[in-house]
Amino acid sequence: MIRDLSLAQDNSAPAVAGASTGAGNMVTVEGAEALWKQVAMARRRGHRIAFVPTMGALHEGHLSLLRRARQLADWVVVSIFVNPTQFAADEDLDAYPRDHRRDAELLAAQGCDLLFLPAVDTIYPPGHSTFVDVEGPSRGFEGAQRPGHFRGVATVVTQLFHMVQPDVAVFGQKDAQQLAVVRQLVRDLHLPVEIVGAPIVREADGLAMSSRNVYLDPAQRQAATVLSRALRRLEAHLAAPGDEARQATAIEAFIARLIAAEPLARLDYVAVVDARTFEPLSQAEGEVVIALAVRFGPTRLLDNLHLTLQ
Ligand code: PAJ
Repeated sequence: MIRDLSLAQDNSAPAVAGASTGAGNMVTVEGAEALWKQVAMARRRGHRIAFVPTMGALHEGHLSLLRRARQLADWVVVSIFVNPTQFAADEDLDAYPRDHRRDAELLAAQGCDLLFLPAVDTIYPPGHSTFVDVEGPSRGFEGAQRPGHFRGVATVVTQLFHMVQPDVAVFGQKDAQQLAVVRQLVRDLHLPVEIVGAPIVREADGLAMSSRNVYLDPAQRQAATVLSRALRRLEAHLAAPGDEARQATAIEAFIARLIAAEPLARLDYVAVVDARTFEPLSQAEGEVVIALAVRFGPTRLLDNLHLTLQ
């Protein structure tokens, strides 16, 4: 099954039945079989495969992962799939922004080789009943706020890894807990894929790019810079010597005070955690993430600071 995205002038015939080519020879497939044929062909040609899973509504953050992937391999697959199992019943699954045509144009222009655009039935055919539950890093924070979320993420990522068979996959540090969950999943299931974390891409005023930023009204959008401002000030504060500043309670109070100063912001959580396990720490030491979730009306925004402290 194939959707003709008519991306740009391209007269080359599709290399495989069930696949369409677009600008820069990007091929778009929807079905599992068409995907397998493409992957098998890439393997026969000796390509190293990099993979970037997304839910679409692409912005510079996603495109930075694609560019990183291109540095790591010579054949890059991007998937766009708004994964229903990672949304709770009261979340924005139906409202989640979707614009596949625009997304495909952006990907083709950035040199994506294969776009995988599965239908819900391809990933979850009727009767699908296997789920992947990663304990440990799924607990707490986003896992507590959004029950079942990481089970949905781990399930779809496992399926996509099996289908795409990448050598390397790139995930954003923007979703630091998700990155920790995926790393744990790969370790525990002995999946032969290297996981690479890529830095957070921000708007000019510091707001971390997110598909959900479009939900903010102008006043909230302006107020939302408080997340990155607070984290930047914390980073400068932690650079000064002294153990007291590194205590988790001191860090959390420092951030909470700055967020409280913004009337439109409501702090959901701020926590100092081990970057690998997402276990809360009492002292910021080693590879740590200072994770932050803040509400603006109904919209929750995430940001974090990833630091290695001696
Ligand atoms: P999505 O929210 O579309 O994000 C896809 C990837 O882009 C994730 O790895 C995310 O961390 C990264 N990303 C988002 N904003 C970023 C930014 N500002 N800078 C750098 N990277 C950024 O995360 C998901 O989709 C889904 O949970 C998925 C992994 C695809 C499974 O369904």
